[in-house]
Amino acid sequence: MSTAGKVIKCRAAVAYEFKKPFVIEEIDVAPPKANEIRIKIYASGICHTDDHALGGGMAGIQFPIILGHEGAGIIESVGEGVRKFHPGDHVIPLCSPMCLKCPSCLHEDSNFCEKNDVGKNVGLMLDKTSRFSIKGKLIHNFMSSSTFTEFTVVDAFACVKIDKAAPMDQVCLIGCGFSTGYGTVLNTAKVKPNSSCVVFGLGGIGMSAVIGCKVSGASKIIGVDINPSKFCKAKELGCTECVNPNDCTKPIHEVIVEMTNGGADYGFECVGKVDVMASMIQSTHYAYGSANIIGVPNSTDRLCIDVMWLLTGRSLNGAFLGDFKAPLDFPCLVQDNMVGKFDLGALVAHKLPFEKINEGFDLMREGKTIRSVLIIAQQKH
Ligand code: APR
Ligand code: ZN
Repeated sequence: MSTAGKVIKCRAAVAYEFKKPFVIEEIDVAPPKANEIRIKIYASGICHTDDHALGGGMAGIQFPIILGHEGAGIIESVGEGVRKFHPGDHVIPLCSPMCLKCPSCLHEDSNFCEKNDVGKNVGLMLDKTSRFSIKGKLIHNFMSSSTFTEFTVVDAFACVKIDKAAPMDQVCLIGCGFSTGYGTVLNTAKVKPNSSCVVFGLGGIGMSAVIGCKVSGASKIIGVDINPSKFCKAKELGCTECVNPNDCTKPIHEVIVEMTNGGADYGFECVGKVDVMASMIQSTHYAYGSANIIGVPNSTDRLCIDVMWLLTGRSLNGAFLGDFKAPLDFPCLVQDNMVGKFDLGALVAHKLPFEKINEGFDLMREGKTIRSVLIIAQQKH
């Protein structure tokens, strides 16, 4: 029996308060209004940004809320006026949607749409209402996507169609973590062959940056992490060396400058701490190094730098979602994974049933995983 046009009752992981575990609840998901799409979610990665929101590090977050922004699923129904998408299409909801009409979307080098909810965290559809509720009480959405639920509703601009043969428990990572790390290396820094790179933080984002450095042909890829249990996987994915700052007698940037004969060509910060960002900048070559910030710090933190670090010739860049134009580029990344240009499966250290979401967050907080993916529905092949 078709569910189109009807309220769907389904399970969702609802966050009610900062720093409190998720509660799996039965919620109501209203049908999509005009220019909206309702999606059955199959898989969702657990990203540090979700924990950031839950931990109080993001301004504007309102409860109750359904977090999760790194998912993949199948369209259940579409609202009036939606022509590009149809029920049955396999899709990735976009945490960084693009209207493709505003100055940012039209700019060749930008992907940060002015209709994006990132940073604002209004937590509602474009029409300023929500399709999620529990016992009549409104539940907010997150980053235009909300994927910790069996069904979500997104604005049509926050969705991209992908190949039906793609494994959703892998390509969900394209929705955020993989693209963020990999894209900053390829699109923002534009790493050249035979160059030296240093990647601070070897979580899901940092490992994706390492994959990007390898694909770009870098000859020296140094991974830096305070958790040495990450080093084995990092080397498998492309790191030529790994360093634990806690084992060093000198500041880590001095160690990296020595290891690279003067400073790395490219640096990437994938931790989200301003002191690590400062170390990363100083680890790059003073005259031509390219320093790239990927990690998201607490919204009240401020990066303090000596301007001379830049005046000598370094460049400092930031990127969101690896500068990928998600609606245009994601289908290509899905293909790249399918033809083996990189292996997203190597990043998925844990696959967990939906109800184990709190365990998944603990694994991430304890540094015991690269990426955990929640299996919310079984994909039939
Ligand atoms: N120096 C080096 N590495 C560090 C340090 C430090 N001072 N502190 C933490 N780390 C390492 C952790 O040990 C971990 O391996 O950084 C890694 C972070 O990985 P995850 O927790 O898996 O986070 P991830 O999802 O990769 O996100 C990293 O990017 O999108 C943002 O909000 C996200 O800011 C976060 C960052
Ligand atoms: Zn736009």
